[in-house]
Amino acid sequence: MVSPRKSRDPQTLRSATRLVHGASMRSQFEETSEALFLTQGYLYDTMEIAEARFKGDEPGFIYSRFSNPTVAMFEKRMALLEGAEAARATASGMAAVTAAMMGQVKAGDHVVAARALFGSCLYVVEELLPRFGVESTLVEGTDLDAWRAAMRPNTKTAFLESPTNPTLEVIDIAAVAEIVHDGGATLVVDNVFATPLLQKPLQLGADCVVYSATKHIDGQGRTLGGVILASETFIATHVHNFLRQTGPSLSPFNAWVMLKSLETLPVRVAAQTRSAERLAEFLAGHARVKRVFYPGRRDHPQYEVARAQMSGGGTLVAFEIDGAKKEAFAFANALSIIGISNNLGDAKSLITHPETTTHQRLKPEQRAALGIGPGLLRLSVGLEDVEDLVEDLALALG
Ligand SMILES: Cc1ncc(COP(=O)(O)O)c(C=O)c1O
Repeated sequence: MVSPRKSRDPQTLRSATRLVHGASMRSQFEETSEALFLTQGYLYDTMEIAEARFKGDEPGFIYSRFSNPTVAMFEKRMALLEGAEAARATASGMAAVTAAMMGQVKAGDHVVAARALFGSCLYVVEELLPRFGVESTLVEGTDLDAWRAAMRPNTKTAFLESPTNPTLEVIDIAAVAEIVHDGGATLVVDNVFATPLLQKPLQLGADCVVYSATKHIDGQGRTLGGVILASETFIATHVHNFLRQTGPSLSPFNAWVMLKSLETLPVRVAAQTRSAERLAEFLAGHARVKRVFYPGRRDHPQYEVARAQMSGGGTLVAFEIDGAKKEAFAFANALSIIGISNNLGDAKSLITHPETTTHQRLKPEQRAALGIGPGLLRLSVGLEDVEDLVEDLALALG
């Protein structure tokens, strides 16, 4: 008789191994690739079992709005990667951000956030929460005194993104976590730009991490998704019920795509980061480029903070071209490999002009405060041969 294969505790495995093997649940068919469970509901052998499941006395799946085996594998694999006790997947990154914030607050509470946020996150903090009686204050994320000054007795939670979109400003997560905790509030970090491989906000003191899994986690521009990661208590108190009752669930199909994508995440992020470093160097040396923003470069204003909290500079590079909108447009229109798109974290390199796309909604003075001028471009570096990308940039700049 063949004895069953031993399986290692995933906590003892390194990241890349966890991402290939972690949290797999095999069906009776012993498939190598994780199964896609496209089902809305589940059968119970008896009424007693149904009752026990609903009471929470017995583990098992109930309804795919809040529990599905494929989604559960994705959530558990994400939790293993992040070093989090618990994870919940959502239909998009914005569903994750909204749930993580809305799930914590009630009318009369106050929220503090860094002002350099992705536009839709800014909408949640600046417009949506106040409509329900939750006041918000926006601060310059790199100014720790501004965080201290913004805290109030009724501050419930704080929110930041680092590196920020699009100028790749780096916020000291550990320092902000300390300020926020001293004020009795929690810290939520949008870790999209850093990826779960290059920065671990929970280890730096954050209480909750959110992702647009649409970005590097899928990494191939196919499906939308989001993830919320935190302690069991945080998820049980603030997130689980909010998601269960309001229903922004990740579809099992999208969860399956992303589960499989996690297997290649370390290889992709490492290659994209290496190429981003090379392209940042190339751009910094080009006469038509006024300034390069890349957290892995010594000339980055928060280089030391980035070095302390990130294990790599990331897959995005921002730069200012010598000229204004006309020159920025002419340059991007002349590219032949790098595509024009507001998306990021894709295998395909993508470039965007934040002033006229992702940050168009902002008032001119808000854009100016964030350093988003007419010559600024944001490049998301893909998996192409980096020398082809250098040539593409060089030809378009020429
Ligand atoms: C930093 C950041 N947070 C959140 C989101 C929202 O994610 P999604 O588009 O998956 O809703 C995005 C991108 O769209 C983003 O860039």
